Order: sequence, then structure tokens, then C-alpha cells
Amino acid sequence: MESPQSIRSKITGIAHGIPSKVLTNHDLMKIVDTSDEWIQTRTGIKERRFVDKEKGETHTTLALEAARKALVKANAKAEEIELVICATMSPETYMPMASCRIVGELGAKNAGAFDLNTACSGFISALHTADSFIRSGVHKKVLVIATEVFSSILDWTDRKTCVLFGDGAGAAVVEPHYNADPTTDSVIIGSQLWSMNDLNESLAVKGGASREPDLRPRITMDGQEVFKFASRAMAEAAGHVVKKCGYRLEDVDWFIPHQANLRIIEMVAKLSNFPMEKVYVNLDRWGNTSSATVIIALSEMQEKGLLKKGQLVLLDVFGGGFNYGALLLRW
Ligand code: ACO
Repeated sequence: MESPQSIRSKITGIAHGIPSKVLTNHDLMKIVDTSDEWIQTRTGIKERRFVDKEKGETHTTLALEAARKALVKANAKAEEIELVICATMSPETYMPMASCRIVGELGAKNAGAFDLNTACSGFISALHTADSFIRSGVHKKVLVIATEVFSSILDWTDRKTCVLFGDGAGAAVVEPHYNADPTTDSVIIGSQLWSMNDLNESLAVKGGASREPDLRPRITMDGQEVFKFASRAMAEAAGHVVKKCGYRLEDVDWFIPHQANLRIIEMVAKLSNFPMEKVYVNLDRWGNTSSATVIIALSEMQEKGLLKKGQLVLLDVFGGGFNYGALLLRW
């Protein structure tokens, strides 16, 4: 076996899964007392997508669409996958787990699988975990998925939250790059995660779990508290990880933040001195797809040809818990 020190992880295929039902801000005005102007100026969101149950779209089908495309791009077969890590906080059921449903439908018959929930930070937590398995030499093909059907936990009587979210999924195949030189090769350079207890439960899913098993799960949020914490935490995480990897913030070519809110993104960019031309934003079309925002953004950027080989890409997330973290990679 290669000495672990010489192994780095590489994303060999990435794709996203798109739900077909589009809800514009004008559509939402028929459901809650809101306006296109309020939503756009406070959040930057114009529309979001939801699964169409009549067309058979589910949490699993979104993930499968992304996973199958990612496998094709990686030129890999489902049975070669050794581990599936599924980041999600809106699974079809607690059990069977989302990752097991995906393994079964995909035919990844040689894979172990687990779900991982760090709310909106999920994709970076899953990629950080996959990177550790690859760098230690334990696994050679890991499928990382982030998939959400957030529409299932929205409270349609709470206009402060129901206008913010959407459904979506992304998948990435992660493999080893042997004898890698992270100063030139397309590999994950470094990452770090942080967590703390959100004592006031400023961002929470109430109901459906052991504290209130009889209540339907629904998201609740103190928007201003979340705004303050998220802006500061994401800026700190970005600065810390870039420095730890031996770079300066100005070396970063692309900054891909969690797509919760344009004003949070602009604040983090300002605190980190990133010009908005280096910041990828797609929440106007997707809303906040929780753990899937960053992987959908990365996949879209690849499809559009925005990512050039050798560019430094910084992923930065924040989510309920609280959890936050950043990951630097070379494309
Ligand atoms: N449409 C119209 N009016 C609304 C809406 C709506 N959808 N929602 C709230 N309002 C009203 C409120 O009722 C209030 O009216 P009032 O003054 O008459 O009482 C007014 O707008 C202001 O409400 P605030 O809650 O103070 O609005 P705020 O300016 O804080 O904006 C927002 C709310 C956009 C959520 C903001 O707090 C924010 O950006 N928070 C960041 C949190 C976030 O984006 N979270 C995303 C999910 S978390 C994650 O992904 C990790």
C-alpha cells in the first residue's frame, strides 16, 4: 500500500440532481403574505425548486440522478464504490437510512454506507470525512452525496422561513491521487470543521424526534441571530483554513459559500476581502438547499466551464447545530 502521506483526494466526477417543480416568489405570494420585493431584497432569492411527487420525485431520486451522472463523469461503476456518505437532514425515513436507499437503487453492492447530519454544513463534513478515508488509504472510491427535500419540513404558516428553502441534490466521486503535489495537482488541500451548541435553538427543527415525537417536524429560526453568527463564523473559517493550508485569502480564485442568503454571502465576502467577481452565487434560482448548496454550485460551475484546472477553490459553510467549516481544493 502507498504510504498515506503521499495520498491526496481528488474529485473525479461531480453532478447535481434537479427537482422539476419551480416555485417563484410570485407563486409563494399565493400561499403566504409576502412579496417578491421583500424576498429578493432581504435574501436574493427569486425562485426555488421542489420535488414533484406526482412525477415520482423523492429525496432518493434526486440523489440517484446526481450520483449516476457523477459516476459517468468519473468513469466509475456503482459496484466499485466502497463507501457512500450521504449528508442530509430531510431523509425519507430515519430508517432505512438515505444512504442505504441510495446504495440499493444504485447497485453499489460492495459499498458500506452511512448518513451524516450537520445541517447546511453537510457537504463539507461529508467531503472532509471522505478525504480522511482516502488519505489514510482505507478506501479508494467514495461517493459523497448531499440531498435534501427541505419542502417536507417547511412550516407554510411561517413566512419568515418558508420562503428561504428549496430541494436539490449533488454527488461527487472521490478517489486517491498518489504522489500528489498539492501546489500543482487537482486535489483537496485541507479542511476544518467547527461545532458549538446553539443554546437558544436559534435554528432548529422542532418536532418529529424524541422530545416531541407527536409533532410534525418543521424548521424554526431567529433570522437575525443566525445572520450575525453565520457571517462571523464563515469569515473565520475561511481565513483559518486558507492560512492553515499555507495560502493567503487573495490567492483564492473562487469562493463558494453556503447559499443561504445573499446578504450573508456579501458580508462574508466583505469581511474576507473577496471581490464579488470571485464569489459564486446561485441562490436566486435554487433558494437554500441546505447541505446541497455548495455541491450544486460546484457542479454548476463545472458544467458552465467556470472552473479552470489549477485554480484554488474555497468552500465555506454554516449550518444548524451550530456547525461550520471550510475546505480548500485545487481544481
Ligand atoms: N415577507 C414579507 N414580510 C416578512 C417576511 C416575508 N417572507 N418574513 C418576515 N417579514 C416581516 C416580519 O414580519 C417583520 O415585520 P414587522 O416589522 O411588521 O414585524 C419584518 O418583515 C422584519 O422581520 P425580520 O425577521 O426582522 O426580518 P429581517 O430583516 O431579519 O430579515 C431574514 C429576515 C431575511 C431571514 C434575515 O434575518 C436574514 O437574512 N437572516 C439570515 C438567516 C438565514 O438566511 N437563514 C437561512 C437558513 S439558515 C442556514 O442555511 C444555515
